[in-house]
Amino acid sequence: MTKHCYIHGFGSFAPAKVLTNHDLEKFVDTNDEWIRTRTGIEERHVVEEGQCTSDLVTEAAKVALADAGIGAEALTHILVATCTPDAYCPNTACVVEDKLGIKGAMALDMNAACSGFVYGLQVACGLTAVSEDTTILLSGGETLTTRLNWEDRNTCVLFGDAAGAVVISAKQTPGSAKVVDIELSSDGSLRDLLTIAGGGSSVPYKLNQPVPAEHFVMMQGREVFKHAVRSMAGICETLLTRNGMTASDVDLLIPHQANIRIIEAVGKKLEIESEKVFVNLNKFGNTSAASIPLALADAKRQGLLKPGMRVLLTTFGGGFTWGSALLEF
Ligand code: UT7
Repeated sequence: MTKHCYIHGFGSFAPAKVLTNHDLEKFVDTNDEWIRTRTGIEERHVVEEGQCTSDLVTEAAKVALADAGIGAEALTHILVATCTPDAYCPNTACVVEDKLGIKGAMALDMNAACSGFVYGLQVACGLTAVSEDTTILLSGGETLTTRLNWEDRNTCVLFGDAAGAVVISAKQTPGSAKVVDIELSSDGSLRDLLTIAGGGSSVPYKLNQPVPAEHFVMMQGREVFKHAVRSMAGICETLLTRNGMTASDVDLLIPHQANIRIIEAVGKKLEIESEKVFVNLNKFGNTSAASIPLALADAKRQGLLKPGMRVLLTTFGGGFTWGSALLEF
């Protein structure tokens, strides 16, 4: 990267309602043992009726703004990475702007599925290069439980709802984290392996017609698993090599929280010790675009992000999209 941007505050929010594996056993043909051993997930947060993605993002944003020591009125841009927006129109970012009590920011949603936040980091850094006076709220927020087929045990046990947010600008301040470099990739030829097709122009809604299964998350899990491991490990290696580093220079790896076996396989391929790999999916499940900023905020709260540390983010999601980002605290 020729110009760097800086992260000033971290925040996250998850809805109060928790659905444990044992709760799922009551209405899905599954069991706690299978979910724990195959995914590492113990419980996930789920929205209540009427609780929207914008509600989660707004709460995460308030925490990030407080952590950055600024008010919402300082924001020039609001970026929301999500594949579960409040509505097709207006975008979720405009709703968040209103809920934060401000007007006049550039407000934009972005969809790169689970990779949305890391993709958004690149967009945010580009925007800070356009103007030095830019102050961006970048968030990842999802309510994927509203797009789950609760009769499909292959997918419904995996996901949860949450939001994470950061504040980004071109200015370095005490305690800010430098975005050293980012690498992104995609392969649209594999798009059918992970979809929420319903309601888009390929599978449009039809008035008074029943809602087909295509309107919910559909995934060929085993295929996604293989690509996720290969892509995340590969893109981390590319990024590290470009920056003259090896995995031994990484103090903490924060991977997309989809499956503990994927996380362990990526760590192993990169030869990063498990103590240096952040995991919180046991409590949240896969929260898609919220996963990385939620993990960042969680890591900060736990005191794991110390000055001088080099933190590697990596993500993978529908599209397929994937990416990696290197941060220096
Ligand atoms: O965030 C975007 C990226 N998403 C991912 O990275 C997810 C990637 N995929 C995965 O994490 C894993 O593939 C899954 C967790 C989705 C599935 O794990 P798996 O080890 O690949 O299992 P499988 O799909 O091969 O299924 C094994 C067995 C099957 O039974 P049979 O055919 O062997 O009798 C499934 O029917 O497990 C069965 N099964 C379940 N059993 C109990 C599938 N889901 C469940 C369930 N409870 N919830």
